[in-house]
Amino acid sequence: MKILRVFCAFLVLLLFLFGALAALLPAPHEDSILGVRRGASFPSLSPQDSFTLIMQSFNRTDLLLKMLNHYQAMPQLHSIIVVWNNIGQATPQELWESLGPHPVPVYFKKQSTNLMRNRLQNFPEIQTQAVLMMDDDTLFSAFDISFAFSVWQQFPSQIVGFVPRKHVVSPSGILSYGSFELQAMDSGPGDKYSLILIGAAFFHKDYLKLFQEQPTPIHNMIDQTQNCDDIAMNFMVANYTGRASGVLVKPIDMRNLEKDAVSGYTGMWHRPEHLLQRSYCLNKLVGIYGKMPLRYSNIMISQFGFPNYANHKSKS
Ligand SMILES: *[C@@H]1O[C@H](CO)[C@@H](O)[C@H](O)[C@H]1NC(C)=O
Ligand SMILES: *[C@@H]1O[C@H](CO)[C@@H](O)[C@H](O)[C@H]1NC(C)=O
Repeated sequence: MKILRVFCAFLVLLLFLFGALAALLPAPHEDSILGVRRGASFPSLSPQDSFTLIMQSFNRTDLLLKMLNHYQAMPQLHSIIVVWNNIGQATPQELWESLGPHPVPVYFKKQSTNLMRNRLQNFPEIQTQAVLMMDDDTLFSAFDISFAFSVWQQFPSQIVGFVPRKHVVSPSGILSYGSFELQAMDSGPGDKYSLILIGAAFFHKDYLKLFQEQPTPIHNMIDQTQNCDDIAMNFMVANYTGRASGVLVKPIDMRNLEKDAVSGYTGMWHRPEHLLQRSYCLNKLVGIYGKMPLRYSNIMISQFGFPNYANHKSKS
């Protein structure tokens, strides 16, 4: 009996020593794990709890690669679609893949014409309910994106994003396009917005399909101005839901990368006619709809309680 007990203790000690040694040594199958990762098998996220990032790229490939690099590791990101508007030019797919392995698949979608509304196609690669649309020149922190996604899950029929704007009605009934001002809590009634720009926003993928079915005059207006696709989306969502089109999330950390672009190409919104065009589109859309579906909202959701500058009605 005693011999057996000693033998057992010895065996346990031996096993323990082997275990300790094995933990120190590199795992023999590490290479094969890397091998699997290098292949195209990405972890599968459920379509409900993840989203697809859509980015349109024109003449700023260097920024695009920075953006891809920044966004690719967000935990709920399912896949990325790059809408390639550089007509006749090769996509940077090979370069991107040579920098891999990457955590999520990136689909480069070559377009045959450089249209602003190319990004609003109902791409077959989209497998998630949520779409995150991003302009190619602004970075938001991964925290802001994750937070906005959780807000979108509460408001899946609305556009949940970071950049608010509004329409203003003049006494003569003509509409103009305006910005949204954050106001100190005690200095006034607070501003309202009626549009959330889709260049930094979550929305439901079904809206892409609905957008394709919009009346031709709306598509024509966007193609003629190469502008206003986001205004048209806000009209569509407000008309569809009967509610405010969007929900504003106040970002904590965002940066504009535009000055870094090697091409020096600056966004469409720098054009002098940009604001005039947007006012034109507001009036044109009201004409097409025969009414004004946009509604004002002053909801602002922020990650760390109230922001310094709240936009709520003053203390009553
Ligand atoms: C607005 O909504 C109504 C009712 O759902 C619908 O019949 C109409 O076609 C929509 N208008 C546009 C321009 O989409
Ligand atoms: C694209 O970028 C190049 C410089 O890299 C510039 O010469 C060209 O004018 C740009 N094209 C447009 C349409 O801005």
